[in-house]
Amino acid sequence: MISVAFLGLGTMGAPMARRLATANQVSLSVYNRTASRAAPFASLGARVCASPAEAVEGADVIVTMVADPAALRAVCEGEGGALASVARGAVWVESSTVGIDVLDWLRAELDQRGAALVDAPVSGSRGPAEDGALVVLAGGAPEALGRVARVLEAFGTVRRTGGPNSGAATKLVFNQLGAHMLAGLVSGLVLGTKLGLDPRELLASIDAGAFRSAMFAHKGARIVDGNFEPSDFSVELLLKDQQLVLEAAERCGVELPTLVAVRDLVARAVSEGEGGRDLCAVVRVLERMAEVTARSPMRSAASRGHSARESAYSTTGTGGA
Ligand SMILES: NC(=O)c1ccc[n+]([C@@H]2O[C@H](COP(=O)([O-])OP(=O)(O)OC[C@H]3O[C@@H](n4cnc5c(N)ncnc54)[C@H](OP(=O)(O)O)[C@@H]3O)[C@@H](O)[C@H]2O)c1
Repeated sequence: MISVAFLGLGTMGAPMARRLATANQVSLSVYNRTASRAAPFASLGARVCASPAEAVEGADVIVTMVADPAALRAVCEGEGGALASVARGAVWVESSTVGIDVLDWLRAELDQRGAALVDAPVSGSRGPAEDGALVVLAGGAPEALGRVARVLEAFGTVRRTGGPNSGAATKLVFNQLGAHMLAGLVSGLVLGTKLGLDPRELLASIDAGAFRSAMFAHKGARIVDGNFEPSDFSVELLLKDQQLVLEAAERCGVELPTLVAVRDLVARAVSEGEGGRDLCAVVRVLERMAEVTARSPMRSAASRGHSARESAYSTTGTGGA
């Protein structure tokens, strides 16, 4: 039996913790800042705790899945913070996307307490988290990685990326790649719609061609359906990720001018009220600028074959979904 404490039960943390609650030979305790999100875990047999320190008491493995570096420090520090009761010999799995600096701080804190850190951010969103089909980017000492293998495998496919911080560094590279892909998708859909294309047909053409990607298909479908809520991954978190990438790049002397442009677009989306929506809502900034909406109703097979200009796409100036 392995004892696991899970801290942070948001969009990703809740389904990941549920995987552990239903796994064999795992005893689970959970904590979430907003208690109502943790309460349902009692019916799954988990111990629902009032503080991070209570959840971590006696745990072999601690998993954190919180929003950002400030949230990670908040669950660690102060009265009721997790560091107060982390056990000697425990391994802490940090799965949030928090960049590298805060990991160095946490590793030093754990070192003083005789505990180890594995950085294990994940690739994939709500659906893969529910299905145990995330890709876990795991960095750390081989011995610590070995001790948490069973926990990480409950979340999905584990890729050992190398030594300490290599999972977090890999995730930063993924983040900038995903941001560029999103920027290309939303730019392409707005441009294509303005050129007279049906955005749904445009997506189908992209899917049939050399640039096919699951991300284009999934987020593209949400855009043409006008389906921006609920969020699988919010525009706010996307902005946080781009800031983390740019900070890390600056520190190691790499200039990323194209990512700066994408970050500015995402920041504008937040300032225009899109922060809580799914990241594909970034398209709404470009739509408002171009006075077009890249929406397209599902069409029956019989009606396919009409020219792009005959299909129903909106060219209103409202930018509404
Ligand atoms: N969503 C995705 O598709 C996805 C994919 C890969 C990686 N990630 C990364 O995984 C992490 C979690 O993402 P998510 O989508 O699950 O986010 P989320 O739904 O916004 O959940 C954030 C979690 O952090 C907690 N939190 C925020 N601020 C806190 C604070 N100051 N003190 C204590 N707890 C705090 C929240 O508690 P409350 O419930 O009290 O607000 C909640 O449990 C993020 O770093 C994100 O970038 C997300």
